[in-house]
Formats: sequence, C-alpha cells, structure tokens
Amino acid sequence: MSAFAPATLPPSAPPDALGRRLHDLRLSVTDRCNFRCTYCMPKEVFGRDHAFLPKSEILSFEELARLARIFVDLGVEKIRLTGGEPLLRRDLPRLVEMLANIDGLKDLTLTTNGSALAALAKPLRDAGLQRLTVSVDSLDSEVFRAMNDVDFPLERVLEGIAAAIDAGFGPIKINMVAKRGVNEHQIVPMAKHFSGADYILRYIEYMDVGNTNHWRHDDVIPASEIIALISREIPLIPLPPNYAGEVANRFRHVDGGGEIGVIASVTQPFCKGCTRARIAADGQFYTCLFASSGHDLRALLRGGLSDEGLAKTISALWHVREDRYSELRSDATLSLPKAEMSRLGG
Ligand code: GTP
Ligand code: 5AD
Ligand code: SF4
Ligand code: SF4
Repeated sequence: MSAFAPATLPPSAPPDALGRRLHDLRLSVTDRCNFRCTYCMPKEVFGRDHAFLPKSEILSFEELARLARIFVDLGVEKIRLTGGEPLLRRDLPRLVEMLANIDGLKDLTLTTNGSALAALAKPLRDAGLQRLTVSVDSLDSEVFRAMNDVDFPLERVLEGIAAAIDAGFGPIKINMVAKRGVNEHQIVPMAKHFSGADYILRYIEYMDVGNTNHWRHDDVIPASEIIALISREIPLIPLPPNYAGEVANRFRHVDGGGEIGVIASVTQPFCKGCTRARIAADGQFYTCLFASSGHDLRALLRGGLSDEGLAKTISALWHVREDRYSELRSDATLSLPKAEMSRLGG
C-alpha cells in the first residue's frame, strides 16, 4: 500500500465471482487514433465527422493517476497505457512520470502503433516507462499501408522501433494481428525479421471485438496453424509461461534466435486466468474487453467521492465480475453490443 494512503483502505480487492484476482489495469488515455486499421476502426464508421470524446469528458492526468493509485492499493501490480493511440495524448511523459512514482506498482508499460515513437521513445523512457509493445501487422509496405488504411509508411514505424531500442526499451514486444488472406503471407517473414534479443513477436488471433469490424470466423488464422507455418522454416520449442494467466503461449527458436508468442483468444480462450481491468478514456470501468458497457468512475471522481469510497466501489464491482466472453463465444454472442477496441485498447 502507498505510504500516503489512508489506513482505512482495504488491503486488496476480493477475488471476482470466478476466483480471479485483480492484478492488471489497462488505462486508455485517448479514444483517438491516426490509423484506421480495418479490423479496429473501419473508415466507414470512424470517418472524418466521427464524434470523438471532447476534452472535458476525458480523464485528466490527475484523475488517471488518482484512479491508478487506488487500483494499485487494491492489488494491481501492472499498468498498461493504451488508446486509441496513446502517444496522441499531449504531454504523455508527464502522466508516465506520475504513474511511475506510485508505490507498489511493479510494471508500467504501453501499447502503441509506433507512428510517433521516433520522437517520444526517449522522453517516455526518461519519465519511467519500463516496457513497450508496438503493433506491426506486415513488413510488406503495401500490405502495411492497406491495413492501417491511412497510407502510413512502414519505415516510420520501424524508425520508431529503432529509437525505442536505442532508448533502452529492448526487448520490445511486437503485436501482429493475423487475418486470413490479408497478411497471412507475412507470418514467416515477420518471424525472420523480428528475431534476436531485441524483440518478442506475438501473433494475435483476429477477434470479434466491438460491432463494427465485420468479423467472420473464417478470417481467423488459428494459433496452431500459425505455429505450424513458422515451424516448417524455423523449428520452435515451447516455453513455460512467465506468470500464471499470461495471455501468450510462448515458443523460442531452437537455434536460440528469438522468442515468439501466440495469443489464441479465439481458439484457446484464457478467461480462467483473466486478471485484467480496463478503464476507457472517459473513465468507464470495464471488467471485460467484450463488455457491452462500463461503470462510470468519472461521475464518482468528479462527484467528490473519497479514495475509500472509490476503492469500495471498485472492489464491489470486481467481486461480482463473472465475465468470460471468449469461453462463451458463439454465433449468438456475435451480435451482442460490445465496446469498440479503440475505446479499450485491447
Ligand atoms: P505483457 O504485459 O507483456 O505480458 O503483455 P500481455 O501478455 O498482457 O499482452 P498485451 O497486453 O500486449 O496483449 C496483447 C493482446 O492480446 C491485446 O492487445 C489483445 O489483443 C489481447 N488481449 C490482451 N488481454 C486480453 C484479454 O483479457 N482478453 C482478450 N480476449 N484478449 C486480450
Ligand atoms: N483482434 C485482435 N487484435 C486486435 N487489435 C486491435 N483490434 C483487434 C482485433 N479485432 C490489436 C492491435 C494492437 C492491440 C492493442 O490489439 O493491433 O496490437
Ligand atoms: Fe489505431 Fe491501434 Fe486501432 Fe489500429 S489497432 S486503429 S493503431 S487503435
Ligand atoms: Fe478476460 Fe473477457 Fe478477455 Fe475473457 S474475454 S480473457 S474475461 S477480457
């Protein structure tokens, strides 16, 4: 518990209804993004006139840091900053510095599309960011441009990754969403390129997040197929999880050339170990990536509730949590209303 926290705060949140503890917090700092990845923010929905959150509805750095401290007091050890694209949030290193100073927080990390990383990697590192994940869906620049759908050049993202390694962030996690017929042919080239000690490459099964990406089961490349494809060219051996509930199944190149992981959220759901809470940029607290709605923490923050009151509310919400969407996924769940990925950042 933080040295400055009132002694009345509960020591940690009780486990949820399925016995899962609260361990990770994913904080979205903006709902905006400069990419329009077809699987996340399709242009026909997120067009020029799309209404993003006005500034007044977005949590301030002070509000974010206050919530983060309360979550850490409740047992959270890892915070991941997400978006939209988190590096679009002005002055982000200042928030990182505030979070890095929270007593009891063990891991502070961020997921980015890498487009602004060349300039921001060093300031983020200096502010106390410990780790970094960068999304790269293809090394074929035409495919990369088509997938981000704003014609953003691959080279700029690769420059950002190089700057991040220079700033001391290695090993950097690289996320690739694998989509049938779109970047399938990039699976093996990605493994060859992002090998070595500087990278940990993770292939993510394409998920039915939100209601706008026209997800179809046929578009998913199962993790088993991804591993089989790579193994034909690069022999792999499985690695044990780093920690209970890790989302990626890990492998390393037999020749010692690198580590890869597959995130099989569709074919091998990992809800049983899900210790993740999510807060959208407007302060809505979600207990699942696929939840239809959140709980309004901003209203409580701005309504003057004490730290103790907020901690009790969050504990109570966690205690009744019984989400396990990926285990229940079926044709019937597809049409349920769900939050968009760009609100929750994965
Ligand atoms: P480390 O902190 O480095 O271990 O990262 P991580 O394993 O938590 O992975 P990360 O947070 O980068 O998640 C990678 C991707 O996995 C996310 O962007 C999502 O696409 C997916 N993912 C992460 N958490 C969940 C989850 O709780 N449910 C589902 N369905 N997918 C998730
Ligand atoms: N399925 C799987 N992964 C997705 N991401 C965004 N949308 C989806 C989806 N529908 C990934 C991004 C990023 C991470 C936050 O989640 O590419 O790497
Ligand atoms: Fe932006 Fe990331 Fe969504 Fe792509 S996946 S549109 S980079 S938030
Ligand atoms: Fe957790 Fe929901 Fe993902 Fe299952 S589907 S792992 S409960 S976020």
